[in-house]
Amino acid sequence: MDESIVKNYKLFDDNTLDNTIRPETIDEYVGQNDVKENIKVFVQAAKIRKEALDHVLLYGPPGLGKTTLAFIIAHELGTNIKTASGPSIEKSGDLAAILSSLEPGDVLFIDEIHRMPRYIEEILYPAMEDFSLDIIVGSEGNSRNIKIDLPPFTLVGATTRAGDLSSPLRDRFGIISKLQFYSIDELSDIIKRTSRVLEMPINDDAALELATRSRGTPRIANRLFKRVRDFAMVKEFDIINLEVTKEALDRLKVDKIGLDATDRELLLAIINKFNGGPVGIEALSSSIGEEVTTIEDVYEPYLLQIGLLKRTARGRVVTDKAYEILGIEKK
Ligand SMILES: Nc1ncnc2c1ncn2[C@@H]1O[C@H](COP(=O)(O)OP(=O)(O)OP(=O)(O)O)[C@@H](O)[C@H]1O
Ligand SMILES: [Mg+2]
Repeated sequence: MDESIVKNYKLFDDNTLDNTIRPETIDEYVGQNDVKENIKVFVQAAKIRKEALDHVLLYGPPGLGKTTLAFIIAHELGTNIKTASGPSIEKSGDLAAILSSLEPGDVLFIDEIHRMPRYIEEILYPAMEDFSLDIIVGSEGNSRNIKIDLPPFTLVGATTRAGDLSSPLRDRFGIISKLQFYSIDELSDIIKRTSRVLEMPINDDAALELATRSRGTPRIANRLFKRVRDFAMVKEFDIINLEVTKEALDRLKVDKIGLDATDRELLLAIINKFNGGPVGIEALSSSIGEEVTTIEDVYEPYLLQIGLLKRTARGRVVTDKAYEILGIEKK
């Protein structure tokens, strides 16, 4: 690439870039107004009482900002955050080590908390409830229980499947918040914010076009922004306009309403193989070769939200709107 082009753009590698565009404060966090307002109040109350914030469970489809919000909560509390993920905590000692390293008021973020083994979960119960750690020391025949006091802390758990959490675990969260898909205006705000941070301006109509095609999801909006920015840079544009946005998105095969290939495949399978439905999730899963959980967590929520799919007692049904959007005559 020509040196003169390189000099004019702010350069990041993709990882640094993800950290750079992630909002840090609650006021920078776009949308999710109900969740945000509640969290603001609870954080403020915890600070007034000089207590740890009650445990928080965040759930919702991938890429809607659960991890981001966990970091923001710690930032607003003015505390440290330690992170772990459900499947990576294999031994009770792993969790004990993390818990005993916490400082008063800290946030412990456990991502994919539904994938934590049950015997690990059981260590969390007294930790969450009484801030105590019950562990067994010594070898068989000569073992004893010891109780260690933990500092008060806040567990923030994130999951795409709240239904998979055991009820004793779920019941120990004082604050349970569901994240929703974002509106086009909200996504457009997120894209403009990213554009400011990366110092690559974008026209309003181009931001709106990107937002429309981002499947209600900030992670997708930011990813598409980066790719469109690539096209604009190579063309040596100093602003992203509607034309280059459309061209880039078409080349990336992003649908006009943001559906991806699997979304379309899923709808088409129901129409072509199951006569529009109703079809059970298992049959649908084997028909398109996607896991049931992936369909339920990743694909279905958005299709339900925008009214292309319906769930009935007898299975999934595509709506008239889906036929219309796919340009298929209903039989
Ligand atoms: N409300 C928001 N405002 C601005 N940017 C956001 C918001 N929510 C998410 N983002 C952006 O979208 C990206 C994805 O968000 P995040 O990683 O928090 O999603 P997640 O819900 O944790 O996803 P997963 O379930 O895959 O872990 C972040 O890097 C952040 O830049
Ligand atoms: Mg995450």
